[in-house]
Amino acid sequence: MALIDTYLEATKLVEKEYENEELPVVAGSFPEELSGYLFRNGTGRMVHHGVPYQHPFDGDGMVSRFHLTGGKVFYSNRYVRTREFLEEEKAGKMLYRSFGTNLPGGFARNFMRMRFKNAANTNVVWHGGRLLALWEGGLPHLIHPDTLQTQSRFDYDGILQNQFSWFDQLINPELPFSAHPKIHPGTGELYNFGVLAGKKQRLVTYRVAPEGKAWPPEAHDLPDLTFVHDFVLTEGKKQIYFITPVAFDMVKTFAGMKSPVDSISGRKGHQTLIWVVDGSGTQTYEAGYCFVFHFANGYEAGDTLLVDALRLDDFPNMAEIGQPTEGDSVVAGATLTRYTIGMKTSTVQEEALSHFQMELPSINPGYSGRPYRYVWAMGADPALRQPLLHETIKVDCQTRQTLSRDFYPHIPGEPLMVPKPGGAEDEGWLLTLLFDMHQQKTRLLAMDARTLEVIAEAALPHALPLGFHGTWSEKL
Ligand SMILES: [Fe+2]
Repeated sequence: MALIDTYLEATKLVEKEYENEELPVVAGSFPEELSGYLFRNGTGRMVHHGVPYQHPFDGDGMVSRFHLTGGKVFYSNRYVRTREFLEEEKAGKMLYRSFGTNLPGGFARNFMRMRFKNAANTNVVWHGGRLLALWEGGLPHLIHPDTLQTQSRFDYDGILQNQFSWFDQLINPELPFSAHPKIHPGTGELYNFGVLAGKKQRLVTYRVAPEGKAWPPEAHDLPDLTFVHDFVLTEGKKQIYFITPVAFDMVKTFAGMKSPVDSISGRKGHQTLIWVVDGSGTQTYEAGYCFVFHFANGYEAGDTLLVDALRLDDFPNMAEIGQPTEGDSVVAGATLTRYTIGMKTSTVQEEALSHFQMELPSINPGYSGRPYRYVWAMGADPALRQPLLHETIKVDCQTRQTLSRDFYPHIPGEPLMVPKPGGAEDEGWLLTLLFDMHQQKTRLLAMDARTLEVIAEAALPHALPLGFHGTWSEKL
């Protein structure tokens, strides 16, 4: 059986929710100074009342919490009880279309059904004394940080209600709030965005004060509907977006003939627009054709912007992401690429910072938007020709060296960097989940961020899917 099939089979359905379960530490020891809360989000199940979801972005969101204290680890996990989740549980069947999964029953059951399920499965952020489960196509959900109970859908006192035309409101009553907000390390303000389809296609941007109150959103007209998953916020508060050229077959999506995922395709040969948004307006620069899910970081250096993106050569075949493969084919990840943007010269240069394939990057959060040196990620050395991203890697953007720790055949997840207070940029720990192929269960690993040495492992009682993104907070 291919490794991806083993992983997907073992993690397709998490049935049990745990509450502050103390996990056995099975290797090494968790340092006492590594004290706080790791929250993660991801799909808890890929099978819904017997019906498999067709795309890994569709599974129902499950937030997990790891409370590290005194060298011990306490684990909780809980599905996000979205409105749609509760309705479907009551009905005992799938009632909503998802991003990549149409309802069973074909054309008749999907025609003109444009209310998609909020999967609440992509990220979790702690800001303004609130824990929010995020999904880029809709509202966040407010989660109790102790119990993980879903408290409410959350719209920042109405800020996320769609105030555009009646037609826009008909299509989307609420504004989307992406799963990649950025917290400015100097001010503590949270910045975010959403891509809004309607009479006009818009990029809507948000700013939230440290105590959690949001300003009214700003709207920026897009040349066309696009797919933006992440952005960069510099210390000087410039927001950088890659407007990548994609085409949506809206007619077939509306008609229920295709899921939104199946309706997207790359527009090869078109330029990527780089938008730099700040208080004075929007500047546009042009780069070659590519697609980007995630950015590692970006910062200003005089009249130059340096943006480190995980660049894909082409728009990925979304329908095939995470699907079982024929045998163990070799994964194709993204390349960490530095875009050097001359703001006065309107030039854009690209340079690869590592030859590794990678995804789900992480940096020392204190360096977000500032000059920095290190990126950690899931990775694969192309020379090893391994089927998945089996390595945890550290890229030194200054020397262009890449350090790696190979877990093959096991699979690590996003390595979240937890800095050591007062330490150097790469001093601290990486917290990552690891799916053990032999035991078919998941462990939480703490690694030395500088050397990638594994210093402690705690065993979960089940196979928790690796999920997408997480956050760390020392205190609640
Ligand atoms: Fe993401």
